Amino acid sequence: MNIVVGVTGGIAAYKTVHLVRLLTKGGHDVTVVPTEDALRFVGLPTWEAISRHPVTTSVHDDVAKVRHVALGQAAELVIVAPATANSIAKITAGLADDLLGTTLLATEAPVLIAPAMHAEMWRNRATQANIATLRERGVHLVGPADGELAGGDSGPGRMAEPEEIFAAAQALLAPGDLVGVRVVVSAGGTREPIDPVRFLGNRSSGRQGAALAAEAAARGAEVTLVAANIAGDVLAEVRHPAIRIVSVGSAADLADAMKREAPGADVVVMAAAVADYRPVAVSDRKLTKESGGVPAIELVENEDIVAALAAVRRPGQLIIAFAAETPEDEAELLARARRKQLRKGVDLLVVNEVGWERGFESAENAVHILGPGGADAGAASGSKRAVAAAIWDAVQRVR
Ligand code: CTP
Repeated sequence: MNIVVGVTGGIAAYKTVHLVRLLTKGGHDVTVVPTEDALRFVGLPTWEAISRHPVTTSVHDDVAKVRHVALGQAAELVIVAPATANSIAKITAGLADDLLGTTLLATEAPVLIAPAMHAEMWRNRATQANIATLRERGVHLVGPADGELAGGDSGPGRMAEPEEIFAAAQALLAPGDLVGVRVVVSAGGTREPIDPVRFLGNRSSGRQGAALAAEAAARGAEVTLVAANIAGDVLAEVRHPAIRIVSVGSAADLADAMKREAPGADVVVMAAAVADYRPVAVSDRKLTKESGGVPAIELVENEDIVAALAAVRRPGQLIIAFAAETPEDEAELLARARRKQLRKGVDLLVVNEVGWERGFESAENAVHILGPGGADAGAASGSKRAVAAAIWDAVQRVR
């Protein structure tokens, strides 16, 4: 797609370099239109190198191609990131004293702006009135986030992260087949405390569940990701304005969160690896060798969360479970999966073979998908994101 990225004069311009990279890597043709002020933060050669297109700020360059209107006319999306308070005021007033101004006036494409300024400037009534006017005109906003600002202050005004702006841009370009669908995905692995420093856990990294959440959000769904002990770098990769993250620790925490979140969802995906058992007693103090002898940890069974959710689901709600198996062969894998699907009463079951070297902690996965009644609903392999896409395709076929 043909995208114009307008850059105005704020320190967050350095993050826009990464945004342009994400867009070009995503196969888009990007023309960067900085303002003169923006070039004080990031220079012209950087924009040209990263976008692989000539860059100018002026309406007087390339006049034969009527560049001041041609860019806006050809654009399928215009992004302004960062959009300073001053540039927001100019866009609202329709000023066209540079190439970005003319491009914005000449375009009929959707416009997405990512504000970036100090919290006081963001809260100022003039800025808020401008934002309200822009929204009314159909301009899309991403951010600003609440966080650390230049100069050590903090508050609302921090530009949305490049991945978030990219996701918002993708959503505008291709609205997706899950628009309006509310999804709850659990991911990661629970930890059952033994004492203040130890737990019973498992090797689930949360990558497959996180990929399911990211894919659903990219396709337009409103997503709640219930994250059981997922590493920060895995979560950072799925940052998206439509994904809300709820962090949990143990199976009991996960059960509480799922029972709270699931009733409002159209689709519930239990990708988390839940401990089947927990220690009967949790010691308040660390178990030490001085306590004497080898400790025996007595276990008690945890509730089967997905079975409980399936038992009370409302009509039309879809429940999807996962199963990780270590079978002798494919026939045993599918037979075990079908029994599990029946036992848990879920609509779909995604099963993968795991082992010491397979399935866990890796970027790749290979799964079989069982549809209602245990019917074969396809197989998928490759990156966890590609597997996520195949799972959502299967969900869409039965929805
Ligand atoms: N699950 C759950 N609550 C539990 C255990 C598992 O909701 N207490 C969910 C998982 O999130 C997953 C599915 O059930 O979606 C499969 O879990 P698995 O551990 O394979 O199933 P079990 O019933 O424990 O069967 P197994 O005897 O193979 O361990």
